[in-house]
Amino acid sequence: MRLALGADHAGYELKEELKDFLKQKEIDYYDFGTYDTRSTDYSDWGIKVAETVAKGEFERGILICGTGLGMCLTANKVPGIRATPCYGIFSARLSRQHNNSNILVLAGRITGKDLAKQIVEEWLEAEFKGGRHKRRVDKITKIENKYLRE
Ligand code: RB5
Repeated sequence: MRLALGADHAGYELKEELKDFLKQKEIDYYDFGTYDTRSTDYSDWGIKVAETVAKGEFERGILICGTGLGMCLTANKVPGIRATPCYGIFSARLSRQHNNSNILVLAGRITGKDLAKQIVEEWLEAEFKGGRHKRRVDKITKIENKYLRE
């Protein structure tokens, strides 16, 4: 699996930490930025990762801002994206099993590095369960399609 990574200044340090972790696990990624701790707008990075995942250029993505909220709001504006803010292992697992999350959103100012690594591991390993969960996720897609213009 190839991952798209993105963060604002508040997520930068955690992103760098996770890159080392992904390298150790031999998981391929591309870092869409930001590349330092200068103040920046989460929406600029969130859209890059969300668009590349929605286009199928990357299977999944990880976005990090201070709380995880701004990135989540941004990414979920892109049709086809199911970005889930995860603060613990249980939500990381269920975000895959039940919600078919394709972007994991982390909180650089809340979640410690070791927990974040466990969350990433869980999120990477858990599989979508389908069945009644597919029906529910399909309903979200239907809502999305209702509001799509062009
Ligand atoms: C940046 O200060 C902060 O607002 C941002 O990282 C994020 O938490 C927004 O939701």
